Amino acid sequence: MNIIVTGGAGFIGSNFIFHMLAKYPDYRIICLDKLTYAGNLSTLECVMDNPNFSFVKADICDREAVYALFEREKPDMVVNFAAESHVDRSIDNPSIFLHTNIIGTSVLMDACLKYGIERYHQVSTDEVYGDLPLDRPDLFFTEETPLHTSSPYSSSKASADLLVLAYHRTYGLNVSISRCSNNYGPYHFPEKLIPLTIVNALANKALPVYGKGENVRDWLYVEDHCKAIDLIIHKGRVGEVYNIGGHNEMKNIDIVKIICRLLGKSEDLITYVADRKGHDMRYAIDPAKIHAELGWLPETKFADGIRKTVDWYLNNRKWWEDIVSGEYRDYYDKMYGNRG
Ligand code: NAD
Ligand code: TYD
Repeated sequence: MNIIVTGGAGFIGSNFIFHMLAKYPDYRIICLDKLTYAGNLSTLECVMDNPNFSFVKADICDREAVYALFEREKPDMVVNFAAESHVDRSIDNPSIFLHTNIIGTSVLMDACLKYGIERYHQVSTDEVYGDLPLDRPDLFFTEETPLHTSSPYSSSKASADLLVLAYHRTYGLNVSISRCSNNYGPYHFPEKLIPLTIVNALANKALPVYGKGENVRDWLYVEDHCKAIDLIIHKGRVGEVYNIGGHNEMKNIDIVKIICRLLGKSEDLITYVADRKGHDMRYAIDPAKIHAELGWLPETKFADGIRKTVDWYLNNRKWWEDIVSGEYRDYYDKMYGNRG
């Protein structure tokens, strides 16, 4: 089995590659990644010498490069993680999100049609459903929940999902889509809430919390997401959408306080800052379909996963120190400098 994994130098894609190489010793994994600010080759260092792994630096929007790779590798499957993934950046500058997340997806699917494929899997997000009110804890996102996006990021992901389903219906492409809740774990880029809080707390820097910190996310340990995708691409039904989430809803402020406690840092570091524009209130997944059809359930409890994550950041300082000292510093100053 030859699998092209796009965006494999990023957070979830790299964890997926580690999972697949460990579980399937006879599979070949080809990682295609543009290495944007969010993609780091150092993340893939531990698999670079694996004879079943190869890395290709390319843009999913570059039709010529994508076709050449398909011609050479004749993939059986494509799992598309490649995306611009940060909501705040999408508010600042939507266009690259539209380009990569929508056009890039169409180029990959055109290649699948041209060269033939067993399965094209689109890694999507629960953010395509918009948000739920805080005072209705009985409501959850199901696969039937209408798409109702808030940010340029989620709109671009929803657009891609529609295109994926259209390629299935119109051209008969064998597709599947997963819509997962917020992930956390190793190799998470420190612009996102959990790694940003860990990294800032370790430097005794302010811990920025948007608005009142009451927004709720449904956190899932990244390995559980990777296992769910593994199940979907092997056993999931073609043309179907599967929601992935672990019934682990938490307020942002509680997450930040837990991290302070685990690191022995004072909650005085917490700084309330101006809210995100269009900030989604609550995400909550109903994972009944993937549980009933594929037997998937999350395995890592939040208390264990967050401890493992904090330990990983403590033990892998070089990985994130290199990031925090580079181009990311300019982003941080721009985003948080005048936020007050
Ligand atoms: P990430 O930002 O950490 O990684 C994205 C990767 O894609 C990077 O390696 C980057 O270099 C690469 N990339 C970006 N543009 C590219 C292009 N044009 N061509 C080739 N490669 C390109 O993102 P992540 O958090 O690992 O998310 C991966 C996928 O999962 C995304 O599609 C995202 O929408 C989805 N998702 C993320 C979460 C989450 O909590 N992080 C939750 C649900 C779904
Ligand atoms: P984030 O990690 O950006 O993921 P998403 O927006 O995709 O859910 O943010 C998670 C939550 O944390 C979200 O409600 C915004 C909030 N947040 C902060 O309060 N402070 C921060 O510095 C960041 C990055 C996020």
